[in-house]
Amino acid sequence: MINVEKIREDFPIYQKQPNMTYLDSAASSLKVKPVIEQINHYYTTLGVNVHRGAYDLAYETTVLFEEARANVAHFIHAESEEIVFTRGATSALNMIANAYRDVLKPGDEIITSELEHHSSILPWMMIAKKTGAKLIYIPLTETGRITVDGFKSVLSDKTKIVAITHVSNVLGYLTPIETIVSLAHEKKALVVLDGAQSVPHLKIDVKALDVDYLAFSGHKMFGPSGVGVLYGKKHLLDQLEPFEYGGEMVDQVTKTDATWKEAPMRLEAGTPVISGAIGLSAAIGYIERIGLEVIHEHTKALHKYTLEKLKNVEGITIYNPTAENPVIAFNVEGVHPHDIATMLDQYQVSVRAGHHCAQLVSQFLGVSSTLRASFHVYNTYQDCDRFVESVIAAKSFFLSF
Ligand SMILES: Cc1ncc(COP(=O)(O)O)c(C=O)c1O
Repeated sequence: MINVEKIREDFPIYQKQPNMTYLDSAASSLKVKPVIEQINHYYTTLGVNVHRGAYDLAYETTVLFEEARANVAHFIHAESEEIVFTRGATSALNMIANAYRDVLKPGDEIITSELEHHSSILPWMMIAKKTGAKLIYIPLTETGRITVDGFKSVLSDKTKIVAITHVSNVLGYLTPIETIVSLAHEKKALVVLDGAQSVPHLKIDVKALDVDYLAFSGHKMFGPSGVGVLYGKKHLLDQLEPFEYGGEMVDQVTKTDATWKEAPMRLEAGTPVISGAIGLSAAIGYIERIGLEVIHEHTKALHKYTLEKLKNVEGITIYNPTAENPVIAFNVEGVHPHDIATMLDQYQVSVRAGHHCAQLVSQFLGVSSTLRASFHVYNTYQDCDRFVESVIAAKSFFLSF
């Protein structure tokens, strides 16, 4: 059994905001003490660059940075050389799409879905425009799910890339990725998985999934903002055209040409996100100490409990009652989501309203925007109660006019 009161002691924000009901972890999670301490340790006792200096401090920093890479690799069952530190999931996904600019040809097809976050779809949309490749959408089920049958209906010999989300950030649906990967590979297509919402909640094994690339961000898993990860199979990363050119990624430079180092260095031009990587590693350490399974069981229980309560409130539309991730997408009939979110803030309940950087999902649902409540390890049943009570109060307030 998880002791949430004890867990909350690890998240210093609760000392400053003891009455806060934070239900926006799908946007960004709260930050955990070991992460803050580790970043503080880097800036107060080290603070120098990696891979460059011949002095002790530089050596120690490099060791810490490369240990962070090894920890990230271990967390998703990858090899260290398969981990590229980026600015976030967005820059990881852009890096991959950009690298295929000179590979894709007119007539090639990129399979994606309407469930994508803009970070997963826009880089490919722009590359498709530049190359003449075609963006193909997996038909979703009535409730908005990606299915293997839907995927099969668009997969063809022309498919070169499958750029897809592992878990939808709006609807919390889990993509049946194992089968999709094996079908894609039969056609020799590469799979780029957006793991921004799955890695903070599910045990990910990139070898078992056999995905070619995976992207995720530190800030959604108790880690710092400004750091993310691009995982790629080593032989693919070694061929990937760098997105940026600069220091430490170079093998040889002449006046007219240059060659690049092997991955991951060839894809980390300039000074990398040192404090971010070290902080992310501390976040992973924390998650491993609590256990992803334990986190999952706890958030699943809160999710179920809240859904049951919310379902009993008249005039609420819940778009994803069967979501696998702890996310509730909903609307209050007759009231704009932003009004509800603003009112919830009066009760110190933080949820997100809008299109959640996934406008195609709103279009699919036939609404301009939705509300989203998302849970993580520090949430309590009291949070769930307060959330539902606040929704009822906000609804009554707006519908009383
Ligand atoms: C599914 C999904 N993909 C990608 C991203 C982009 O992540 P970031 O803004 O950290 O780069 C997000 C962030 O909300 C997301 O939820």
